[in-house]
Amino acid sequence: MENASKWSRKDLIGIEELTREEIEIILEMAKSFKATIERSRKKVPTLRGKTIVNLFLEPSTRTRVAFEVAAKRLSADVVTVQGSSSSQVKGETLKDTALNIQALSADMIIMRHSAAGAPKYLSKYIDVPIINAGDGAHEHPTQALLDAFTLIERFGSLEGKRITILGDILFSRVARSNIWALTKLGAEVTLAGPSTLVPERFAKMGVHVCHDLKTSIKDADAVMLLRIQRERQTTTHFPSLGEYTALFGLNKKRLEWLKEDALIMHPGPINRGVEIDSDLADSGRSVILDQVTNGIAVRMGVMYLCMGVSENSLAEPLPL
Ligand code: CP
Repeated sequence: MENASKWSRKDLIGIEELTREEIEIILEMAKSFKATIERSRKKVPTLRGKTIVNLFLEPSTRTRVAFEVAAKRLSADVVTVQGSSSSQVKGETLKDTALNIQALSADMIIMRHSAAGAPKYLSKYIDVPIINAGDGAHEHPTQALLDAFTLIERFGSLEGKRITILGDILFSRVARSNIWALTKLGAEVTLAGPSTLVPERFAKMGVHVCHDLKTSIKDADAVMLLRIQRERQTTTHFPSLGEYTALFGLNKKRLEWLKEDALIMHPGPINRGVEIDSDLADSGRSVILDQVTNGIAVRMGVMYLCMGVSENSLAEPLPL
């Protein structure tokens, strides 16, 4: 908690721009908040009187609900605006939408958008903090933070741990944010999947690239499976989902290729029977629902830190 005063960012746009120390400050805050939400009285008064707007212009279940629950645990008022019910459908620009939300007394905007760079663009025009809840195939910073938090809960540290991210890397903001987060925290990251979805150029990010399933997972301490994002693919990246499953799907038989204590992760939503079989997703090796739960504490930490900078109040820590 004492490190919170070192946090200096109003916005959280991506993990790429964060230092290891900044990532660790968020994870430390999340650990404190996880302890508070495990109490019988789960709410803290930290953001009482603040209004947080969830501007979700792309579908979401986990991220939207987790941000909403996190804001309510911090005693903030929450308003959710979704794409289909916003005036975006009448042709309003994103900038006008955000300026109007700010004029309606929002103290923070949580934003999901299909365009990479949308939160960064808005942060130039909006005074209140902007938190990126996923922008196109660019970044999903709070997902990577909750993934790192979940791994550190199990392993103590990520230093030297081998993490394989398997699936649709090319179109995945989760993969990009995780590559930055996990490597900065000392993990050895392997990206795996068909060469069309895992191009060799990703190796420039300081990771291994592998196109053979068995080789890619046999030494892993954790395997993070990703959904095939058909909605983002504009050309054919493989012949069929069936072929993908045959070559790269994780099933009971292939579980034997993994180390006995290797963890199975997935950011959700899962396409059961495509990238992972149900019996594995629901097995004791899976930490998928732990990831979801940890998303609340991580988002409380992010909102607390960014609001503190916006309010210039971290010199006097906000009450927990
Ligand atoms: N992991 C994730 O971003 O899930 P949602 O799309 O449901 O928010």
